[in-house]
Amino acid sequence: MSEDRRMLPYGRQTIEDDDIAAVAAALRSDFLTTGPLVEEFEKQFAAASGAKHAVACNSGTAALHLAAMALRLGPADTAIVPTLTFLASANAIRMTGAEVFFADVDPDSGLMTEAAFEEAIALAGKYRREIKAAVPVHLNGRICDMRLLSAAAKKHNVALIEDACHAIGVPGVGANEYSDFACFSTHPVKTIATGEGGAVTTKDEAAAHHMRKLRSHGMVHAPEEIRQRDEGFENGAKRPWYYEMPEIGWNYRMPDILCALGISQLKKLDRFIKRREEIARLYDRLLAPLAPALKPAPRGNDSHGLHLYAVLIDFEKIGTTRAKFMNALRAENIGTQVHYLPVHRQPYYRDRYGERELPGADAYYARCLSIPLYPSMRDEDAEYVAKTLGKLVKG
Ligand SMILES: Cc1ncc(COP(=O)(O)O)c(C=O)c1O
Repeated sequence: MSEDRRMLPYGRQTIEDDDIAAVAAALRSDFLTTGPLVEEFEKQFAAASGAKHAVACNSGTAALHLAAMALRLGPADTAIVPTLTFLASANAIRMTGAEVFFADVDPDSGLMTEAAFEEAIALAGKYRREIKAAVPVHLNGRICDMRLLSAAAKKHNVALIEDACHAIGVPGVGANEYSDFACFSTHPVKTIATGEGGAVTTKDEAAAHHMRKLRSHGMVHAPEEIRQRDEGFENGAKRPWYYEMPEIGWNYRMPDILCALGISQLKKLDRFIKRREEIARLYDRLLAPLAPALKPAPRGNDSHGLHLYAVLIDFEKIGTTRAKFMNALRAENIGTQVHYLPVHRQPYYRDRYGERELPGADAYYARCLSIPLYPSMRDEDAEYVAKTLGKLVKG
């Protein structure tokens, strides 16, 4: 191992001096939590994603939960979620009381295809479950075929919540041409970072209004929304302190401090994606000789957010296990991660729904590994990663 080589994580934020200055300015302002920067961040986020409305919140998980609540999912409902995703895509459904029905994914891309969606609909029918929503996940920043999925969803009267947590800045994602909601995360390994943070986009103005209430305890202040007129009004005017809670909500507010960071980061979105693309192309070229033992997960279309660079490795063929392989990379200061253990194999979901056979997800999971990809990586870092992978693959 080269002693002086810094650790290369699989992903990391890129925070620059102007980001720090933007946060410092917010800290010196009158507002730490909800102030004018929330609306500004929402405006900028909507502009960057082509959205009609963007609702800021304090995580991608909160974004998914807000969208599920805006659809009024509840204990009588079921939503389809591909099993190859982060926990939150499924948990946000459960947080409404609704049930999850896991769909399989394509073994090479890890995405829920139209066929996988249709198969899940048919299977769920056998369990006498009516499906009200589905959550296509844009794994690694590769976009599901939303045109096909939305046509199929319409046929079955199913609403679509895109889990776009990996796909900030991908053209068309967030514009909701083919979905009811798209949900984003600004967690540090995502394309832009605010620490914790997230947003939901939608074309539906009433739903956006509803989600803004739900992110702040379900409270309403506007005179026209006050139901208990005797409590809230005096001489025909709303009492200045009065607010009401017609339904339960959460504290999912994104503070001004983080919105300041988000606004600053959004200005760099194109540059970050361009650099990710450059590194990905370099990897493509350097890793090509390692096929078929190691292959980049197929990226398949032009609109790829390159949130993660996933490779598929036949560990058995190269005479090792993934754990040994990851440890060997770690010893060379290269961080990797597995995205993801299929969620239906988590104890909570096994206990709730029993065993399921989802072979596409199992095949993807058995081979996937995310290798370092982030804008501040140097070409020589990618070259070092590729060379080290080559050494390990060839034994
Ligand atoms: C696919 C996916 N969905 C949802 C989330 C949840 O986002 P957050 O960590 O901001 O709550 C993440 C991020 O970790 C994710 O990768």
